[in-house]
Amino acid sequence: MDFPVETVIPQKTLFRPGALTALIPECLEFGPRGILVHGPSLEKNGQKDLLSKTVPSDASVRYFRRKSGEPELSEIGDLIRAGREFKADWIAGIGGGSVLDLAKAAAGLFNAKEKPVYYQEGGELKEPGIPFIAVPTTAGSGSEATVNAVIINPEKKAKLSIRDKTFMARKVILDPDLLRKAPPAVLRFSAMDALVQAYESFISKNATWFSETFALKAVELLAHHLPPGLESRAEEHLSSLLLGSYFSGIAFNASRLGVIHGIAHPLGALYHEPHGLICSVCLPASIKINRRVMGRKYDVMTYVVKKDFLEKTEELLSLLKIESPFRGKPLIEKEKIIAETLRSGSTAANPKPITREDVEFILEEIFK
Ligand SMILES: [Fe+2]
Repeated sequence: MDFPVETVIPQKTLFRPGALTALIPECLEFGPRGILVHGPSLEKNGQKDLLSKTVPSDASVRYFRRKSGEPELSEIGDLIRAGREFKADWIAGIGGGSVLDLAKAAAGLFNAKEKPVYYQEGGELKEPGIPFIAVPTTAGSGSEATVNAVIINPEKKAKLSIRDKTFMARKVILDPDLLRKAPPAVLRFSAMDALVQAYESFISKNATWFSETFALKAVELLAHHLPPGLESRAEEHLSSLLLGSYFSGIAFNASRLGVIHGIAHPLGALYHEPHGLICSVCLPASIKINRRVMGRKYDVMTYVVKKDFLEKTEELLSLLKIESPFRGKPLIEKEKIIAETLRSGSTAANPKPITREDVEFILEEIFK
């Protein structure tokens, strides 16, 4: 059977409405002291109060509220320092991909001898960190099921991964109720990101039966539940979006991604547009580039989404009112974008070997 040579998945996953109340008791199995990394919405939505009520008197939980935007290297250092001072036994992240990636990187590098930039540049991690627990509040980056964290390196003006197999979340809490208050734009872009990830994983040249199975289910769930889920926020749809995102993470963690994620990182670092938005608008161009090499996989996608796959993605973009944020803008640092895309590990997993002309084609499509 076609199975990855090595793969890691979360040890324990809780999936039910209201599962958030189990977060602290689950974390405390790793020790009585921990840090909970979150964004501004935790207080706004009343979830911080709810969580505080679940902390017993013999335990101690400190909250680390991160600034908005995508995490930078220095923020990992700040969080590790706060955690060491507090003598944290674990770090949990509750939020979108940025919060989860920051919490994951800090937990993973908690005992590291070198600075985070060393590991971003490919240095080997020799000291295992402390347990990371993930609670996604969007659907999603899939970060709760992957071993990498995307972090901005401001000096290089680049978004780069830090990855290690020990980074995998020990526990994942999937609570569809948390998606109910996600702002529409966040849910729209992040769920499309998950769909793109599942698509890229499904056609990746590293795909196996294992990754394809999760990727295909993710495409099915996301393509069918994204538009109605955004409007109604009904539990059935939110559960499907949350699972679709989780499955996309399991899939691409095992197979890597493709050219969309290769180009999305330099574009994101230069133009500061949301990652999910960038990935969404690159999707039709990627399908056009890969269609021939997709072979029967194109037909499988069409079968799963119940419409010609390219037409379905264009319909989704139109239904969700997603338009290219680059249209009419000047293309800056074209050579840097092309060089980084061609160097990217995501691009290396694309089934069609990507050329300079392919990258130029995507840029033309999204800037025209
Ligand atoms: Fe992504």
